[in-house]
Amino acid sequence: MAIDYYERIPNNVGLADNRALQRALEQWQPRFLDWWREMGPSSFGGADVYLRTATTADENGWASYGHVAMPEYRWGIFLADPVPDRRIGFGDAIDEPVWQQVPGEHRSSLRRLIVTQGDTEPASVEQQRRLGLTCPSLYDLRNLFQVNVEEGRHLWAMVYLLHAYFGRDGREEAEELLTRHSGDQDRPRILGTFNEPIEDWLSFFMFTYFTDRDGRFQLKSLAESAFDPLSRSCRFMLAEEAFHMFTGASGITRIIKRTLKVMSEIATDDPAAVRNAGAIDLQTLQRYINFWFSSSVDLFGAEISSNAASYFATGLKGRPDEARFSDHLGAGRLPIELPDGKGGVIPEEVPTRSAMNEVSRLAYVKDCDIGVQRWNRLIRDAGQDFRLVLPSLRFHRSVGAWTGIHTTPDGKPIIAEEWSARRYDWLPSEEDRAFVASLMQRVTEPGKFAGWIAPPDGGINNLGLAYEYVHLN
Ligand SMILES: [Fe+2]
Ligand SMILES: [Fe+2]
Repeated sequence: MAIDYYERIPNNVGLADNRALQRALEQWQPRFLDWWREMGPSSFGGADVYLRTATTADENGWASYGHVAMPEYRWGIFLADPVPDRRIGFGDAIDEPVWQQVPGEHRSSLRRLIVTQGDTEPASVEQQRRLGLTCPSLYDLRNLFQVNVEEGRHLWAMVYLLHAYFGRDGREEAEELLTRHSGDQDRPRILGTFNEPIEDWLSFFMFTYFTDRDGRFQLKSLAESAFDPLSRSCRFMLAEEAFHMFTGASGITRIIKRTLKVMSEIATDDPAAVRNAGAIDLQTLQRYINFWFSSSVDLFGAEISSNAASYFATGLKGRPDEARFSDHLGAGRLPIELPDGKGGVIPEEVPTRSAMNEVSRLAYVKDCDIGVQRWNRLIRDAGQDFRLVLPSLRFHRSVGAWTGIHTTPDGKPIIAEEWSARRYDWLPSEEDRAFVASLMQRVTEPGKFAGWIAPPDGGINNLGLAYEYVHLN
């Protein structure tokens, strides 16, 4: 379906045919823009940024590129094309036709799922709002802003669903999405990770690698939903999300490349010497991985969850890539390891439906590990002994059975004294953050890159590295 760009709100949902909905969204639009100016990328309102914008919602050639000032970005409502005769793919209502309207009995659960997803989108823009001031290059600055405007568009995607299908409650929730703020004492964002500060680019790349990837897995699960408008929304969001994954994976790769080059130049693996030479030592990278991975795995929820079981049973939320499972009823049981409360571990078996969060989390961990292994090949090929590793799912958890239980990164329960003595061997310390912050010097000359990160292999949309991706006015 073609996107109507003549409308005030670009869309492919026939908004012009629904005047009441159009009016409601046109009232929300200026509030969104106020939020963007206040809480979005700080001090870059006048910059022209080489951004891609959606033009059609099919898989091939959906994007057009051009320089645009961010407040003029054409945020809109894009649903993936409908799948003819789509049927529910899992749970108790398997093979029944999907829903075009919200069934009354699922209204509040669906609203909660949409609000929780919607809340993460503006949250990440708020978390990243000051990064532009310390960009390592114009190329990276452009990528940050591309991610930001697309997270803004993801907010539009969820707000459309709230306005179109949830009446007055939905409109109120849409307002709230602009009044909660990341890290706000009184009105924080709903999920923990989205209240963590992102003050340096190492954290930004970790966030886009680990936390945006959680987003990708949540979208995959919601793309399975029996509520077809949600499914179509999420399918199009997934097309945009691929670039966010790329930003994180390539960003961390480039940092590691630069570090390895410095290690070979100074012929030592001593982290202090690496830091002195202006690169980020691999040990610090590992601590940032430990932090962002453990925070992001919390986003999947508790290991045993009656909510997750009921979302699956009723068809509201499936597993990521549900088609890849052989059993779509979630029958059977799953082995799971839980703390025994005495510093040990008990193996348990729980009904698969109750363990859906864990099933999704394990698929996510596998996906996270692909990049880690790629980084380890780079490190090995450079002749270094060091290996990066994802910590255990028991490590540093704030949600689920392992909350508040101290373990080593490989998951061995330890006493509180050992945790206090060693936690900064495993997690970023104030001193680590101060060191990383000291490297964050702004580089804006086209084609130039900060010294702590290697240039990328190529530019955006086949343009070179020296292209002026952002015109700073
Ligand atoms: Fe998003
Ligand atoms: Fe994202």
